Amino acid sequence: MLTKIALLALSAQQIAAFPSYLSEVFLNKRNAELAAAGSPCPHIAAELAKRQAPGVTPPFDAAEQYVSNTGANVFVPPGPTDQRGPCPGLNAMANHGYLPHSGVGTIDDFINGCQTAFGMGADLADFLAVYGAIFDGDLTSYSIGGPAAGLNLLGLLGTPEGLSGSHNKYEGDVSPTRGDLYQYGNDYLLQLSQFSALYELGQQNGNSIDLAVLTAYRTTRFQESVSQNPYFFNAPFSGVAAQPAAWSFIYRFMANKSAEHPEGLLTGDVLKSFYSITGDYPNFKYTPGHEAFPDNWYKRNPADYYTIPYLAVDTLAMALQHTEFLSVGGNTGTTNSFTGVDPAALTGGVFTAQNLLQGNNLICFGFEASLQAAPDILSGLYVNTAAALSKLTGAVSKATSGLGCPQLSSLNTAQFSKYPGYTKLSTAGNY
Ligand code: HEM
Ligand SMILES: *[C@@H]1O[C@H](CO)[C@@H](O)[C@H](O)[C@H]1NC(C)=O
Repeated sequence: MLTKIALLALSAQQIAAFPSYLSEVFLNKRNAELAAAGSPCPHIAAELAKRQAPGVTPPFDAAEQYVSNTGANVFVPPGPTDQRGPCPGLNAMANHGYLPHSGVGTIDDFINGCQTAFGMGADLADFLAVYGAIFDGDLTSYSIGGPAAGLNLLGLLGTPEGLSGSHNKYEGDVSPTRGDLYQYGNDYLLQLSQFSALYELGQQNGNSIDLAVLTAYRTTRFQESVSQNPYFFNAPFSGVAAQPAAWSFIYRFMANKSAEHPEGLLTGDVLKSFYSITGDYPNFKYTPGHEAFPDNWYKRNPADYYTIPYLAVDTLAMALQHTEFLSVGGNTGTTNSFTGVDPAALTGGVFTAQNLLQGNNLICFGFEASLQAAPDILSGLYVNTAAALSKLTGAVSKATSGLGCPQLSSLNTAQFSKYPGYTKLSTAGNY
């Protein structure tokens, strides 16, 4: 299966030798190979030029990058009707006035908030925000937690579920700190065992949670889902595109930027603050919904915002080290029964085990699959799916423009019938 692929093989040892420059090292090599193959990808090349020139690191400007947690942005814990959910970044933003305190925001609230508070690229913020509004809200607004008041229910088949109820639409298995839905009965609360394991790995790495630590722990979490969750399902969008983002965001966004560490240093204390953890290791205490920006914390430089091409590179770098991340499929009702779907059978040959690691195909597949899977999902949410579909078509075409994506025109979801993690949702009218 996919694990046999040795395309563009950069050995694990080579990558491990440069943990903090994981993507950059990979980029260098891959770009050389792409150039040699006569097919340099302009976005990748641009990212490379920006970040890879010898000695060039992102600029640091304290005044521009400081993120206030005082005054209008002072921490205010959520009240009983305020929504908080699976995303620690959005929870922290809502607690500090970078999103409405209710936890329900418009597309623009999310786009502006993600840029102001974390330095997310407008392209990525735009897609994430629009996707949430379509699948978890009323097309213009959505809740970062559960079902909420204040949405426009006209044309909807029920009250939108919010991010907390979006399993396999947005939220997926193999989350860093959130448990798998069918293992814990919820997918939005932090599991202390998972947080502690990640924290420990950071301590062993000199109090630094970097991409190498995260990639290693993602491998552990993937294996745990295989061996502990009989309904584990690694879905095309939530598994292949949202899952790597959840992992890379921890370092790319939560790390504190400084003159000494312009790319960021993520210490255990900063991780604890963003994950609402108090107490000293190993006696941690989790207070759901109290995620907070630490004092004296600095976000990404505006010249170095985290964009879709940047995420594409991180996604690919992780997948090259651990090709199991590429496997769409799941357990078939018992633990340790993971069976992958042949990407060619799923996509009518557009994406294959051979080409998934070429160009930007991996992230292309995630985005495009979300569109092909949409009609089924949306028919359970909207009286008439036309507006939602057209909005998603626009968002996917914007997100993939310039990535050189092959055109996916169908997704054979019959391939998923053997996975209860998929069919349970269809029969619940949820997926
Ligand atoms: C519109 C913007 C955003 C949306 C719609 C969004 C949505 C989500 C969703 C649905 C999940 C759950 C995925 C899963 O199952 O693992 C998630 C996880 C996560 N998000 Fe966000 N997010 C957004 C922005 C951000 C930002 C700005 C950060 C910055 C730190 C962030 C950091 C994370 C992290 C670290 C996780 C993994 C949580 C864990 O399991 O430990 N997100 N997000
Ligand atoms: C961020 O880095 C700066 C410079 O090293 C430091 O003064 C500040 O305390 C750090 N912030 C956090 C939250 O660790």
